[in-house]
Amino acid sequence: MGREYRDVSQARGMQGYNPAHFFSIRPRMLLFSPMRLGPFPLPNRLFVAPMAGVTDRPFRRLCKRLGAGYAVSEMVTSRPDLRDSLKTSRRANHEGEPGPIAVQIAGTDGDMMAEAARYNIDRGAQIIDINMGCPAKKVCNKWAGSALMQDEALAIAIVEAVVAACQPHGVPVTLKMRTGWCAEARNAPVLARAAESAGVQMLTVHGRTREQGYKGVAEHDTVAAIKAAVGIPVVANGDIDTPEKAREVLRRTGCDAIMIGRAAQGRPWLFREVAHFLDTGEHLPPPSLTELREWMLEHLHDHYTLYGEFTGVRTARKHLGWYARSLPGHPARMAAFREAINRSESCESQLHVVQAYFDDLAAPENWTLAA
Ligand SMILES: Cc1cc2nc3c(=O)[nH]c(=O)nc-3n(C[C@H](O)[C@H](O)[C@H](O)COP(=O)(O)O)c2cc1C
Repeated sequence: MGREYRDVSQARGMQGYNPAHFFSIRPRMLLFSPMRLGPFPLPNRLFVAPMAGVTDRPFRRLCKRLGAGYAVSEMVTSRPDLRDSLKTSRRANHEGEPGPIAVQIAGTDGDMMAEAARYNIDRGAQIIDINMGCPAKKVCNKWAGSALMQDEALAIAIVEAVVAACQPHGVPVTLKMRTGWCAEARNAPVLARAAESAGVQMLTVHGRTREQGYKGVAEHDTVAAIKAAVGIPVVANGDIDTPEKAREVLRRTGCDAIMIGRAAQGRPWLFREVAHFLDTGEHLPPPSLTELREWMLEHLHDHYTLYGEFTGVRTARKHLGWYARSLPGHPARMAAFREAINRSESCESQLHVVQAYFDDLAAPENWTLAA
């Protein structure tokens, strides 16, 4: 399915450009027009946002298979003392993931961040992304994540140190940030220009300030201002949850790419839906039960392989809970499904619950539910 779709869209991607219709067809043109990050060509300009605890390797792989052109790992700490923790080593696992492999690092100290970049490059990172967007207290209290936007000098010193560490390896450095620390200090355009001068090759901007956390609505005017202020590619992020919203954000910001996070939780096929809409102006029909079943089971198998049985069964529960929001079925049956997946203690029983749910939906007496 994924391959068939990509072939069609790539063939279409470069056709039909007419400057007179710039605004009406521009998203379509953009999505599949060639984009490179350093030496790496990207299949399209539709990216998965890094989400700690969500966009692990199995989820990124599935998103890429279902239409995302690029994915960045969940952030990994730059602290060397935490490198050998199971959590960090799982986050640094990229086995079988289609490239380019982009690893996001977070920290507060230029030397440590440079060392973290080198460490991850030695372990397969082909692109290093610096996190200046995370609002989490755990990160911000240590002056990392979006807190760095409050101290522009420190932020740029970190960027310079990481770029210097990556340059000898030919590894591009990218930066993910918010629009600023608070409404009164939307300094992202200033930081963006400084980051470009320091050698950053792509910027992603989440259209909220740190103060906003995830509240309110993402504003994309500051993102548009950043795009206008720099020459490097800019990726717009924040609240893109439908194909129409994707088109609107692309038009409004003039950005080079878009990045989707929360809306893809339990709905990795959103990428192919957005891609299809931007490519053709039409909506792709919803996935069939057969497709949903195949993708969920594939995700679970990959997930258990990475985490092992004990952790795998437990961490799969949140993904399955998200998937449940997209599944057809009677609310009572759905509640029973959620309860059963949360009660499962083994891979086998969790897989069985999922399979049984789909078997049940496919039973003739439930055909109307599955329609
Ligand atoms: C659970 C969760 C974890 C996140 N972890 C990270 C992270 O590790 N690094 C990062 O740069 N952003 C992280 N983010 C922010 C997202 O990448 C993204 O910028 C944000 O969710 C806005 O995009 P959305 O509206 O499409 O979700 C996280 C967001 C969520 C919801």
